[in-house]
Amino acid sequence: MARKKIALVGAGQIGGTMALVLAQKQLGDVVLIDIPMTEGMPKGKALDIMEGRSVMGTSCNLSGSTNYDDIAGADVVIVTAGVPRKPGMSRDDLLGINCGVIKDVGLKIKELAPNAFVIVITNPLDAMVYNMQKVTGFDSSKVIGMAGVLDSSRLACFVAMELGVSAEDVKAIVMGGHGDTMVSLYDCVSVGGIPLPQLMSKEKFDELAARTANAGGEIVSLLVRGSAFYSPATSAIKMAEAYLLDKKSVLTCAVKLNDEYQGKGKGLYCGVPCVIGANGVEKIFEVKMNDAEMAAFEKSIEACKKNAEWVDANT
Ligand code: NAI
Ligand code: 2OP
Repeated sequence: MARKKIALVGAGQIGGTMALVLAQKQLGDVVLIDIPMTEGMPKGKALDIMEGRSVMGTSCNLSGSTNYDDIAGADVVIVTAGVPRKPGMSRDDLLGINCGVIKDVGLKIKELAPNAFVIVITNPLDAMVYNMQKVTGFDSSKVIGMAGVLDSSRLACFVAMELGVSAEDVKAIVMGGHGDTMVSLYDCVSVGGIPLPQLMSKEKFDELAARTANAGGEIVSLLVRGSAFYSPATSAIKMAEAYLLDKKSVLTCAVKLNDEYQGKGKGLYCGVPCVIGANGVEKIFEVKMNDAEMAAFEKSIEACKKNAEWVDANT
């Protein structure tokens, strides 16, 4: 059987890390794509990882390119292409620039990799994945956004640190948009199968949920240049792996909502738990929430809606 082809559009911090993790996990051959201005960067990163394959014990091939044509026939495309917010740049400026980038990339994916499973990471996430699905016209089961896996992993990390337990034994759900309005669900955290309310007060949980909502900003203030990349990269690879290995993994991803959640987010992309397998998004779960959580989720949907409306009005 031919090896799967995974195209990473955007070979920056997250793109480079994803290439390494993909090679280590032997999920397929990887092509790293970036803009011509970056010259040898994607090629250099690919060659650097290739040269480590003997010690890593992997046989996957990696290549780098500044030509979009090299995504041809990809089974999975993961998109981090775009610019980060710089001083003096408004949110609308960022939306506008990255919408244009997603449009260019999306049209190329549509033309050259029409059967690909597309994972968008570029911010503002919910609007960018909405735009990607619009541009490609792909079935919404094949276009998803990465944020909830990361946000849920961050919450699980903080809970594990607080309780002094292994993070791998903590499972959490953080739903909604990837921003200040994300919603952490107290009753949905489990610690080795034990519901969190049996182990931690709601007040302490609320502190950890607030840290989760600000976790991206916390890393930015520490790194100063750039934003989080290790955990975003591993989160996206978890989603790609679920698709490539037909794992039926239950992951919180930005997916296009229809009648779920009483149709409140119909037509919008927003983070909810879903099943990812060989058909892409195979099922969307409707989590039961209390009134306060539902109100917070509705507020988050509104934030996603505002950005999606911006995309519709400006593209
Ligand atoms: P980065 O700046 O290191 O990499 C982005 C790369 O995209 C750069 O190398 C740039 O040259 C390239 N690029 C720009 N325009 C392009 C185009 N038209 N075609 C191909 N490549 C293009 O940024 P990093 O740290 O890798 O982050 C990437 C994106 O992911 C950012 O938008 C960031 O805000 C977002 N992000 C999203 C998260 C999420 O949970 N969804 C978490 C962390 C970051
Ligand atoms: C993060 O959550 C900045 O979206 C990015 O780290």
